[in-house]
Amino acid sequence: MRWELSSRGVQPLAASCEELRERILELKKKRKALILAHNYQTLDIQEIADFVGDSLQLARKSAESEGYEMVVFAGVRFMAEMAAVLSPDVPVYIPDPGALCPLAAYLTGEKVAAKKEEYPDAPVVVYVNTTADAKSKTDYICTSGSAIEIVKSIGAERVLFGPDANLADYVREHTDVEIIDLDERGHCYVHDKFDVEMILELKKKYPDAIAIAHPECPIEVQHAADVVGSTGMMANFVAQSDAKVFLIATEMGMVEQLQKAHPDKKILPVYEGAVCRQMKKHTLEKILHVLEEMPEENLVTVPEEHVPHIRQVLEEMNKVKGQGPAKAVSART
Ligand code: 13P
Ligand code: SF4
Repeated sequence: MRWELSSRGVQPLAASCEELRERILELKKKRKALILAHNYQTLDIQEIADFVGDSLQLARKSAESEGYEMVVFAGVRFMAEMAAVLSPDVPVYIPDPGALCPLAAYLTGEKVAAKKEEYPDAPVVVYVNTTADAKSKTDYICTSGSAIEIVKSIGAERVLFGPDANLADYVREHTDVEIIDLDERGHCYVHDKFDVEMILELKKKYPDAIAIAHPECPIEVQHAADVVGSTGMMANFVAQSDAKVFLIATEMGMVEQLQKAHPDKKILPVYEGAVCRQMKKHTLEKILHVLEEMPEENLVTVPEEHVPHIRQVLEEMNKVKGQGPAKAVSART
C-alpha cells in the first residue's frame, strides 16, 4: 500500500482505476469469485464482471454458480437475494449492503396475504423487485422480461399483480387477463420521471430514431415508444437492428453500455436524470473490499423459513423463455 499526506493526516493513497481493476481481477481468480452485474452498473463495474444482464438473465446465471466459491453481486439487494436462494452452496456478497430498491418497499408479506384473502380465486404474481417477505407469500414471480409470458401461462381469468403499477399496466395491455394491483401506488422513482414530451421532442430532432422504453415507465410513455421491454431485451434489440439512432427510456447505465457496445450507432438518453441512486452505490473500491475481507455485513442471506418456497417459484420463473419486444416495430428495424 502507498500513502499520501492530506488534511486528514497520512492516508492510504487512492488507487487508480487501473490499479483497482488489476487487484480485483487478481483476487477474483484467487477467490474463485463469480462477479455478476446489472445493466445499470457503471461501466467500470460492468467491465470487470463475469456477466452483465437484466434481472432474468442474472437469476439464471446465479443458478449456474458451480465451480465458484463466492458470488459478488453488483445490483440491488433483491437481486443478490435471488442469487443467494438459487446458489445455496456459495456465499453471496453485495458490495454495498445499503443498495435497496425503493420499489420493493411497497409490498410486505402481510399485504400480499391480505389481498389474497380478498381475492381467493386470483393467483398472485409478484415482480422480482420485492422483499423476500413478499415473495414468501406469492404463487409466481416474474421479471420485466418475463411478466407477460408468466401471466399468460397461468391460464387464470384474473391475477393479483405488484408492486409496480406501470408494469401492471403493461401486462394488462398485452394479455386478456384481468390484472388487480397489489398496490396502486407502487412505482419506480427513476422510471416514473419519464414523460411523453421528452420522447416527442427528441423525435422532432431525430425522426428516424427508434424509441425504446422500459415497462416500469408510465403507460403513456410506453405508448409513445416504438418498443417496450426489459434491459436485456434492449441490448438484444439494438444489437440486431439496422437503425442508427435509438432513444432509450431507462436508467443511464444502460445508455452508457449501449453506446460503448455500438460506437457506430447514436444512443441517446430520453432523460439524463434517470439515475438509480441505489444501483450506483456500488463502486470498484467496495467490490475490492468484499473480495479482500469477505465481511459478514456484506453477506446476503434470506430468512431460512422462506428459502424453499422462494427457490421453487424462482426456479419456475427461470423455466420461461423470456419475451422479445412487446410492441410491433417498423420495417426500418
Ligand atoms: P430489468 O430486469 O429489465 O433489468 O429491470 C430491473 C430493474 O430494476 C428496472 O428498474
Ligand atoms: Fe429499483 Fe427503479 Fe432502481 Fe430498478 S431503477 S432498482 S426499480 S429504484
